[in-house]
Amino acid sequence: MTEPDTCPDPGTRRDPGTHHDPSATEAMSAGSPRPLVEIEDVHKSFGDLPVLKGCSLTVARSEVCVLVGPSGSGKSTLLRCINQLERPTAGFVRIDGELQGLAPEPLADGRWQRLSEKQIAAQRARIGMVFQRFHLFPHLTALGNVMEAPVQVLRLPREQARDRALELLDRVGLADRADHYPSELSGGQQQRVAIARALAMDPELMLFDEPTSALDPELVAEVLSVLRDLARDGMTMIVVTHELGFAREVADQVVFMDDGRIIEAGAPQQVIADPRSPRLREFLASVL
Ligand SMILES: Nc1ncnc2c1ncn2[C@@H]1O[C@H](COP(=O)(O)OP(=O)(O)OP(=O)(O)O)[C@@H](O)[C@H]1O
Ligand SMILES: [Mg+2]
Repeated sequence: MTEPDTCPDPGTRRDPGTHHDPSATEAMSAGSPRPLVEIEDVHKSFGDLPVLKGCSLTVARSEVCVLVGPSGSGKSTLLRCINQLERPTAGFVRIDGELQGLAPEPLADGRWQRLSEKQIAAQRARIGMVFQRFHLFPHLTALGNVMEAPVQVLRLPREQARDRALELLDRVGLADRADHYPSELSGGQQQRVAIARALAMDPELMLFDEPTSALDPELVAEVLSVLRDLARDGMTMIVVTHELGFAREVADQVVFMDDGRIIEAGAPQQVIADPRSPRLREFLASVL
């Protein structure tokens, strides 16, 4: 795939805010809904360094997909390609059937036209991301952090954004901490605010990049419990974590990456309990 930076013609593209696709409805009535996330042969290099070497993965709606693998295997890079914080060198990412970052069809010469920054921002707004370090705004309270994007990006009236933010803080068990600044919150509480903040944009997909690995052990459980609740409520999630107990209990699919490739993927009973590849067996022995 080559990627021209030619400016796309917005007139040829459907409204990024609407993504109803009749073929998806058709497929659904046939009993096999289109996956929410489709990653097709994604490659990513930084300069001469190949980091993703052809990753393909599908994640169904309401599925919890846990990504594991050694440091440097490309887990964060793959997540970042899904929400376009990185641009794949080759390959495709589709969310709900919509090609990410590129016009729906190639040009006559086979090249793919990149979407405008505005169109990319609209696609990215449908995906929530939570990082290992919480990245809260230090000058805003918990409530202020959760209200910020709905007010600034979605242009929601402040009152409405406030009500919704309080509801979300309640959902992550922090109704009584709404007026606290990040510096007045524990790591686990800050991470839960970060989750509420991502949810405030009403994402259809949540990405978590090691959401508990910066936390003291006693705070890990409260964050995992929020993730568990989200899963129960049907949120589609891709979670990079070394918490294999969580993976075993909550994941529908566990994906093992090594050296830029997906080595094994499947149900936790298979991937964690009965690994096929020696590399996965070695990795599991190192984290268990
Ligand atoms: N912006 C960048 N520029 C150059 N190299 C990068 C960049 N981002 C990541 N890399 C390299 O890509 C490889 C994969 O990195 P990535 O962060 O995706 O791994 P990871 O599996 O998330 O590792 P960890 O478990 O340590 O977080 C590493 O070798 C890393 O040094
Ligand atoms: Mg990482």
